[in-house]
Amino acid sequence: MDVLVVGTGGRENALAWKLAQSPRIGKLYIAPGNGGTGALGENVPIDAMDFENLVKFAKERNVALTIVGPDNPLGEGIVDLFKLRGLRVWGPVKAAAHIEGSKAFAKRLMREAGVPTAEFEIFSNHDDALNYIREHGAPIVVKANGLSFGKGVYVCMTLAEAESALEEIMVQRVFKEAGNEVVIEEYLDGQEISIHALADGKDFILFPPSQDHKKVGENETGKNTGGMGAIAPVPFVSMEALKDIEVRIVRPTLRALAEHGAPFVGILYPGLKMASNGIKVLEFNARFGDPECQVYMRLLKTDLLDILEASADGKLAGMNIEWNSGFAVNIVLASGGYPDTYKKGFPITGIEEAEKILGVVVFHAGTSTQGGTLSTAGGRVLGVSAVGDTLQGALDRAYEAVELIHFEGKYFRRDIGAKALI
Ligand code: AMP
Ligand code: GLY
Repeated sequence: MDVLVVGTGGRENALAWKLAQSPRIGKLYIAPGNGGTGALGENVPIDAMDFENLVKFAKERNVALTIVGPDNPLGEGIVDLFKLRGLRVWGPVKAAAHIEGSKAFAKRLMREAGVPTAEFEIFSNHDDALNYIREHGAPIVVKANGLSFGKGVYVCMTLAEAESALEEIMVQRVFKEAGNEVVIEEYLDGQEISIHALADGKDFILFPPSQDHKKVGENETGKNTGGMGAIAPVPFVSMEALKDIEVRIVRPTLRALAEHGAPFVGILYPGLKMASNGIKVLEFNARFGDPECQVYMRLLKTDLLDILEASADGKLAGMNIEWNSGFAVNIVLASGGYPDTYKKGFPITGIEEAEKILGVVVFHAGTSTQGGTLSTAGGRVLGVSAVGDTLQGALDRAYEAVELIHFEGKYFRRDIGAKALI
C-alpha cells in the first residue's frame, strides 16, 4: 500500500519511521519531509499547504492513504478537499479541527458538554477585556483566539503583564486577525500532561499519557516553544485518573463534536492540567503533539498503518492497540536562540554514533541535506529518543546520545522528565 505523509517536522519523521516498518507498506512518500525522512521513503518537494499539488500527486501516484501531520493544513481544510476529490485521507475535517483553531469554539463546546476547564470569558472589545482583568486580578491567562503558532498565550503573574498582553493582542494586533477575540481565563496550577485519543468519528482509543516540556528554559522558565522534550507514559497519572479523563473529558468532547455535525477522525489531543482543584483542559489540538508523537512511535507495538486506516475508515470498534512496556523519552536539540531568531545552515555530525547506543533513535525535524551535507534548517533540529525499562534508564541513554551529536549553537534542556522522577 502506497502512503503519503504530509508535513516536515519530527512528528512526521516519527510517523514515517513507524510506517516504514509496516509489512503492508509499499511506497512511502513524505511531502515535503526533512533531512531524515528521505532515508525512510521518498521526499516530495510539495509544501504542506499546497493542497492542489498534493491532491494531484496523490492521484497520479495512486496513493492509498494520505496522513496529515500538522495543524495548519488541517485547519485550512486539506482533509475536506482530499475527500471531495475522492481520495482516502487520515485526519479531521476543517469543522472538527476547529476545536484547535478556535479557542473560543473549544471553550464554548466544553461549557456546553460540561467538560472541566479553566473559568473563562471571551471578549472582542479591548475596554471590556481590560475591565475584566482589573476586576479579577493576577495570576490570569490571556489568549489570542485564533491560531498563532503557540505564541498567542500569555500566562500573566501580574496585572501589568496582563494589561500589556491585551495591548499587544488587541491594540497592536501582533497576531493580526487571531486577536479579534481574546479568551481570558483562570490560572491553573499543577503539572501539565498530554492526552492522545485516536478517533474514527464514532469510537476512540486512548493512548498512554505523555508529557511535553513547553518552556525553553529549565524548570519551566522562559518563552513557550513547540516543545523541548517528552516522556511517555507519565508515572504519576494513575489508571483512575486516566479513566476520569476518558469519561469526563474525551468522550463528552467527541460526542459534542459529532452533535455539532463535525465527527472527529484523527488524533484528539487535549492538553490538561492536573490542578489542585481537579483535572482540567487547557486546550485541544486536532493532531499528534510534537514531540509527543516521537515517544508514542517508540512505544507503539501495533502496526501504525493498521490503526490509522481503521481510524480513517470508521473501523476502530473492537480494535486493540498494543504498547511496548517501559518508557520512551525524547530530548529536542534546538538551534541557539530558538524560539526567537536563530541561524541555520550549520553542519550536523554524530547521529550515527548516537544511534549505536542501545534503544536510541534520532528523529529529524529542522534538518536539510541540500548541498550534500546534513545541516540545521529550523528551530527544533533533532529529536533524540530512547526507550528503557525505567524512565531513568531511558533518560540516561538519551542524554548520552545527545552528547555525541554536534552542531553550532546546539541547545537542549537537561531536565526532561525530571518532574516525573520525583
Ligand atoms: P495553550 O497554547 O493554550 O496550550 O497555552 C500554552 C501554555 O500556556 C500551556 O502549555 C500552559 O503551560 C500555559 N497555560 C495556558 N493556559 C493556562 C492556564 N489557564 N493556567 C496556567 N497555565 C496556562
Ligand atoms: N507538544 C506540543 C504541541 O504539539 O502542540
